[in-house]
Parts: sequence; C-alpha cells; structure tokens
Amino acid sequence: MTVDLDTLASELAAGEAQPVATEPVTLVIFGGAGDLAHRKLLPALYNLHVDGLLPPRMAVVGVGRKDIGDDQYREFARDGIQRFSRRSLDEERWDSFASSLFFVNSAIDQPGVFASLGSRLDIIEHERGLAGNRIYYLAVPPALFVPTVQQLSHARFVAPADARPFSRLIVEKPVGRDLASARAISDAIAAVFDEHQIYRIDHYLGKETVQNILVLRFGNSFFEPLFNKKYIDHVQITVAEQEGIGTRAGYYEQSGALRDMIQNHMLQLLALVAMEPPRSLDADVVRDEKLEVIQSLRPLEGEAVDMATVRAQYAAGFDLGAPVPGYKDEPGVSRSSRTETFVAMQVFIDNWRWAGVPFFLRTGKRLPKRASEISIHLKEVPPILFNRDPHRRLDPNVLTIRIQPDEGFALGISSKVPGPRVRIYPVNMDFRYGSTFGGSSPEAYERLLLDVMAGDATLFMRRDSVEGSWHWITPILDRWAEQTTDPLPTYGAGDWGPPEADRLMESAGRSWRQL
Ligand code: BG6
Repeated sequence: MTVDLDTLASELAAGEAQPVATEPVTLVIFGGAGDLAHRKLLPALYNLHVDGLLPPRMAVVGVGRKDIGDDQYREFARDGIQRFSRRSLDEERWDSFASSLFFVNSAIDQPGVFASLGSRLDIIEHERGLAGNRIYYLAVPPALFVPTVQQLSHARFVAPADARPFSRLIVEKPVGRDLASARAISDAIAAVFDEHQIYRIDHYLGKETVQNILVLRFGNSFFEPLFNKKYIDHVQITVAEQEGIGTRAGYYEQSGALRDMIQNHMLQLLALVAMEPPRSLDADVVRDEKLEVIQSLRPLEGEAVDMATVRAQYAAGFDLGAPVPGYKDEPGVSRSSRTETFVAMQVFIDNWRWAGVPFFLRTGKRLPKRASEISIHLKEVPPILFNRDPHRRLDPNVLTIRIQPDEGFALGISSKVPGPRVRIYPVNMDFRYGSTFGGSSPEAYERLLLDVMAGDATLFMRRDSVEGSWHWITPILDRWAEQTTDPLPTYGAGDWGPPEADRLMESAGRSWRQL
C-alpha cells in the first residue's frame, strides 16, 4: 500500500503506521540502572510514550544492585532521556511517563530476593490495574542470564507459553562466546521459557534502514531480478565506528570485533541482503529464509581462515585532529591484549543464487567516521560501445544502502555529459530518508520494545539462527586462538584499518568502497 506524504505524516502522528501494543504490561528490566537502560531503553520507552504507542496501562520496573528508590530512579531516567533521547524532554509528558517508573533494589544472584521482588511487583500491578502480563528484560552481563532465569522459574514468575497473563523474556546479546557456551545458555533458558516467549535482540534488525532492505528487494521489481550471480560482481558490508572502546574494556576484552559485530549484526545484514523471497512476512517464515543463508555460508577453517580474514587492533592516532590512545592504552585493557578491534573478511554463500559471488565484510572501532552501509556492485557492462576504451572503463553500477548516518540509498549510474561529444560521467540517484520523510526515525529499541509488547518476533533472533552463526564463527575463533605468537596487525586510530585489509581486497581483484 502506498500513501501520499501528508497522509503518511498524519498516520505517523496518530501512531497508525506502527504495530499496536494494547495489553497492559509490566516491563521488568534486570540491569535497570545500567548503561543500556540509561542510554537506550528508558529513552526509547519515553519516545514510545510521547508517540502514544505504549499500552494505556503499564509499569516499568528497574531491578538492580544500586541502592536507590523510585524517585532517584526517575531522576536517572530523566537524565538518560535528556542526554540520549532523539526528542528533547517535555515536562508534561515526562510527568505522566515518570509515574510509571519504579525501582527495586535487588542482587539478583542472591537466593530468596525474588520473593521480595514478587511482593513489590504484585503491589505495583495491583495499584496500576495491571493484569499480570510481564516482560522480563535481561539487560545484565551474560554470566547472569542463566541465574536470573532460574530464579524467575523458582519464584514461579513464568507463565506457560500461550497462557494469559503472558510472560515473555528479552535477551540481550551476546548469547554466549562460542557455539558450546551459546548452546548451554539456550538450553538453560529453554528449560524455563518456550522459544515463542523468547525475544533475542539484535538491535540492528530494529533499524529503519535495515527493515527497508526487504522492502527495497521485494517491494520493487528493479532490484530483485538482478540480485544473483549473473549480475552481481560482489557485495560489501561495512560497519565503521569512529569511537574507541571507551569504558567498555571489561566486556570488549572478552569479546573483540568478531564476536561483538560480525557474529550478530553483520551476519544478519548479510542474511537480509542474500535471502530468498519469503512466502509471507510471518516471523518464522522470514527467519527460516535468513537461517538458510547462514547455513549456506562456506565454512572457514584452518588455513582458509588465514586467507580470508584480517584482524587488527587500533594503535594511537587521531580523532578529528585530536590525539587518541591506542587500544592497549585504553583503561582496563591488558598491555599484551590480542583482542581485535577490526575485522575484514571475504565470505561466500554456497547456494545456487550466490555461487562464486564474494561478500566482503568490514567492521572496526576508531575508523575515520561512523558509517554503515551495504554496497551491491554490479558486473561491468561488456567492453563494447561506451565501454570499449580499456583505459577509460565505465564505473560499474553500484546500489548503496546507507544504514547510518544519512539513512537512504543511492544508485550509481553512467550518464552522458551534455554537449556534442559522447562523454560519460558516473552520477548518483540518491534517496534520503531525512529529506523525504522528515523528522527523526524511531530508534531501533523503540520498534523492538513495541514488537515484544505486541508479541511479534519477526525482528528477533531465533535460537537456530544464533547457533547457526556461532557454528560458522567458532572455527575462526579457534584458528585465531592457536596463533598466539604472530604479531597482530595494527592501524592508527583514524585510519581505514590495516594495509592487510586492502591486500585482502586487492588479491580478490576489487577495492573497498570509499565511505
Ligand atoms: C553493539 C556493540 O552491539 O553495537 C557495540 O556491542 C557497538 O560495540 C554497537 O558500538 C554499534 O551499534 P550502533 O547502533 O551504534 O551502530
């Protein structure tokens, strides 16, 4: 269904273009006073409230070790919204939102604490007329996933699947650090929650531009006929970050870029670009097709890993002209750390559609700018007519999907320069969300939280997909873990990765797109 922009604007203002969550609900955030809640979850909930998209009756209950009460928690939320919300804080709306926020001080790994948490939840739900629907959000370190879920079970907080009132669980990444640990976590969670009650977040799937990949591919007849080995030369997916690891060394030292970005976000982007058309938009149908792609990735093991991957760590350099430290000098990082902050790799999808088409993935911290995009590079036109001069080959067409910032997409095409001579120049057809639709797009967490409330799992990772990704990633991790003496390549902060990443591309006869 297409609509004109005025209609669309009024639909958006009335919340009609959004999924609807109407059932009263209590959102219990374990880790409720942590960084994720501060930066992302509470601002997202506030924006949903302002848009009138939250259920009419609802409570948000933060749970954590901080010794604070409801009023201090509301101050914490207010600060997060003022600093990180896409909208500035409106006092009147804030007051009504704040009244739904509560905090329970509780060390969730201590036995018995769930009894007092339970009584507090009962009181809140009774006072606010809530029916007992609960969403539990695991915004805690992964080591606490299993203990928390077990405590929920012992305290009888979890209703069976399909029961009313419902119980749902949101799990943040990382689910595990390799295939074995991911399976162990999933088994323990599956002992308490049915798969249909579990919503594993990969916040990239909540980004507008990422959702638009399917619309672009399957809502237009231009692109889909070209998306295959006959017409596509190669695909590049880049997720570049300008920031370093900041204060996250504790997590990042155990993770690195392969686990942090490739195993989840980038493989999900790859799956969306490469999947077959699903027969419907049902959550499981879409997720089945994405899983097919993950399972068709050509395995990388042993020496094949060395040929197809590059990992590196940032050294001291510059960010917008200001000197910044190298990774090893970041607070909390070991001087002998071999944690990679950059990964580039060449991968193949061994199915009929994509046989032989290389996909290049690249991600890193402390790169020159924050820019994420997918570029689909079409094959060259034949070396005849306008492309017959071997010294002046035409630029092949490129479809670029800009995920962030400056969301949109562009099509690079060859065009004649006006004048009596035939001169060809590459031009860009460019669509920008900002200029066409105006305003700021909802943050990924807004969409995802709303979907959990509405019970729609399409944009969440199913267990088989998480394990499929780990199945493919784990041999790469194993190979890297064997190589403890070879020096790790480095790149200066503010560079586009190490020279090895360029050589990877050169040896494949291509070059990285300049962002
Ligand atoms: C997170 C990673 O999942 O995604 C972070 O743990 C990374 O290391 C972040 O910075 C990037 O998300 P975004 O939405 O800023 O691109």
